[in-house]
Amino acid sequence: MAIEQTFSIIKPDATRRNLTGAINAVFEKAGLRIVAQKRVWMSRAHAKKFYEVHAARPFYSDLVDFMVSGPVVVQVLEGENAVAKNRELMGATNPANAEEGTIRKMFAESIEANSVHGSDSAENAAVEIAYFFAGTEIVG
Ligand code: PPS
Repeated sequence: MAIEQTFSIIKPDATRRNLTGAINAVFEKAGLRIVAQKRVWMSRAHAKKFYEVHAARPFYSDLVDFMVSGPVVVQVLEGENAVAKNRELMGATNPANAEEGTIRKMFAESIEANSVHGSDSAENAAVEIAYFFAGTEIVG
């Protein structure tokens, strides 16, 4: 299986509750390597552009408000099948529907404050990684 990279965000609800290490432990235990990571407080313009694909959805402005409500940790995760593996580890968008043992089941507060974002395809991962990281910041 090919080694690939995916993009992850530990969201403001999780940084507020000091869960960065607990979430990173889930990634590392599952064999994903954190090859880039930084804590940032996104500007509204930056968050709006990141979530532009959801601009027509009714929750778009709430989602942007939430994502700029505190610091986030942006990351590049690397490993076999990293995109799909991370989505599996995250669990369903709504924690009420998430499987036992997933990050959202364990930590998320609500469908909005759902602790993590993960790219949904390798193509989007490449775009999202480039949106936050310079190539020199990613160290495998
Ligand atoms: S996904 O992950 O793209 O398949 O999920 P999707 O349901 O399409 O949701 C896209 C992102 O919007 C967030 N979301 C919401 N935010 C606020 N309120 C409501 N009701 C809501 N529903 C979905 C969801 O967490 C996804 O954010 P990211 O950061 O991409 O995980």
